[in-house]
Amino acid sequence: MTRDEWLRASGVERSDALALLRELAGVSRAALLAHPEAGLDSACLEALERAAEALRGGLPLAYVLGWREFYGLRLELNRHVLIPRPDTEVLVDFALEHLDRSLAAEVLDLGTGSGAIAIAIAHERPLARVRGVDASAEALELARRNAERLLPPERPGGAALWHQGDWMGALGPEVGDFDLIVSNPPYVAAGDPHLAALRHEPALALVGARACADGLGDIRVLVAQAAPRLRDGAWLALEHGYDQAAAVRDLLQRAGLREVHSLRDLAGIERVTAGRAGK
Ligand SMILES: C[S@@+](CC[C@H](N)C(=O)[O-])C[C@H]1O[C@@H](n2cnc3c(N)ncnc32)[C@H](O)[C@@H]1O
Repeated sequence: MTRDEWLRASGVERSDALALLRELAGVSRAALLAHPEAGLDSACLEALERAAEALRGGLPLAYVLGWREFYGLRLELNRHVLIPRPDTEVLVDFALEHLDRSLAAEVLDLGTGSGAIAIAIAHERPLARVRGVDASAEALELARRNAERLLPPERPGGAALWHQGDWMGALGPEVGDFDLIVSNPPYVAAGDPHLAALRHEPALALVGARACADGLGDIRVLVAQAAPRLRDGAWLALEHGYDQAAAVRDLLQRAGLREVHSLRDLAGIERVTAGRAGK
């Protein structure tokens, strides 16, 4: 079968089929245009067909390929972690705006999953000491692997540090307070109709273990635990659902944080809410 014949017969979206050809058969778009009539060998065809079948069954492309780009970094992914979303880059932008390049800041990413946010921050702020927490051991194993591959070994802030457990309870007594705490926690309400389309991603990442009708079960606990661990002037910034900004602002204000405000994502939706400690 030729490259062009496979592309037409794959039964998946053209952009996905092009990605599979590039990743699994090493055929770039330019090579395809130049030689659409070139044949695909049987091993390639078998790999392409297996991947196309998984896509036709609804598995997201990022899981089929085993990676997704986030903040310019190619993160390895598997089904133990959420696929990082472009909207989450708003949270990373906020973190970087508030982290001085020349300071060895203490940074915490709660619910780190693939390590996307923690690693993006560590990559852009080499002096910062960055820690990631997750309840899932499998997620942390992947985050550690991503960090080892993406961060330079001689990084001045040291290797990223990973802690398994329930939010701030994951941190041992040796860990002090923070200059910045960020989180993209589970925030989908139990029974939300969008969950059907997200069925391949872990329920722990989407709904969490404190499933509730407004989706704020984990955010409530996390804000109550994280706010007291901010140094004077330090920010807590959280991603949340499209209709949760007002409730999260309220939670941050009640936790005693000031300058509480929300930031919009690429679609203009209030997606991240932040507040800072101090008088
Ligand atoms: C929405 S995902 C975010 C993953 C990653 N930070 C990102 O933005 O792509 C939420 C993460 O929180 C973790 N998580 C859920 N409940 C937790 C808890 N009680 N304590 C720590 N981590 C938790 C999940 O395992 C998941 O990796």
